[in-house]
Amino acid sequence: MMNAAPQLTRILALETSCDETAAAVVEGGSRVLSNVVASQVDLHARYGGVFPEVASRKHIEVIYAVIEQAMQEAHIGFDDLDCIAATRGPGLVGSLLVGMNVAKGLALARNKPFFGINHLEGHIYSLWLTEAAPEITFPLLTLLVSGGHTELYLMRDHGRYQHLGGTLDDAAGEAFDKVGRVLGLPYPGGPAIDRAAEGGNATAVHFPRAVMTEAHGYDFSFSGLKTAVIRHIKHYDPNRLPVADLAASFQAAVVESLVSKTVQAANDYQVTAVHLVGGVSANRALRRAMSTALTIPVRYPPPSLCTDNAAMIAAAAHWHFIRRHPDSLDLDVVPSLALA
Ligand code: KG4
Ligand code: ZN
Repeated sequence: MMNAAPQLTRILALETSCDETAAAVVEGGSRVLSNVVASQVDLHARYGGVFPEVASRKHIEVIYAVIEQAMQEAHIGFDDLDCIAATRGPGLVGSLLVGMNVAKGLALARNKPFFGINHLEGHIYSLWLTEAAPEITFPLLTLLVSGGHTELYLMRDHGRYQHLGGTLDDAAGEAFDKVGRVLGLPYPGGPAIDRAAEGGNATAVHFPRAVMTEAHGYDFSFSGLKTAVIRHIKHYDPNRLPVADLAASFQAAVVESLVSKTVQAANDYQVTAVHLVGGVSANRALRRAMSTALTIPVRYPPPSLCTDNAAMIAAAAHWHFIRRHPDSLDLDVVPSLALA
């Protein structure tokens, strides 16, 4: 389906796959008119992780206020929208259902096309919301690193993904969160380790890097590293943990694994650029190391577009809107939805 003026499409997207309730309006696939995120981090901090039932209940409580704020900040009415999108998966089933059902209800009531969007594709499209968007060419390599995912995708064109590798166990963000907890840092562990590592010595402890065989190609593994950190800290008096050094040494091991596989894939596939997306792409050591290791452009979104948000879902929805028919309102959420 081709629309007359895709550069003017206005899309309202909702994102409720995990613990952020988010709504955003994006124009032309790249101009963010509003991007509202109500984070539940404080609510889940006491559990040290996301509590699914609490997350879905909170989404229901705040989603209408979040949508209203997104529409107000965009200075548009529902009649000005070309379509409504929501995250279909992957994510927590109860949380996904809130955003999908509210979006479908709005689409039905306002007679707008509806699109269910893959959360991972949303992260990938977060780069199209940046000023680098006009420079993006294919093929490109995207390293998607978040709380639930560590994936390498080769992207040959819009909507064309080849999954080159992923984690065999823990996701990178999950490793950050678990190690953050054992170091006594606040939840989520990723940003806390990033900050703590600043004052630490990254060579203080040489934690093991996963040795992957040829058969595992571009795959990653972080559970051995996490176990090594847990085992190592038993040597210390719990009240006198050298937190900064341990955070920096752990972070260096994660970054080295991520950079080495990504550089290998970038060379093998002769890509034009490497994109870092997802919550962990906010990590400053990762950004620095990847940029140093490659001569091609290394791009990453600003921190607010690294972690979960609805603007990235709208950016991905834009490419669906100009290329295909809308989804049926019978479309279901898929908690384990894959990409490619
Ligand atoms: O993309 P995201 O918001 O949610 C998922 O889709 O999972 O990613 C959240 C993850 C958490 O594990 C968090 O600890 C990590 O991203 N994270 C970071 C940083 N900021 C967020 N990890 C390392 N360094 C950071 N600066
Ligand atoms: Zn995410």
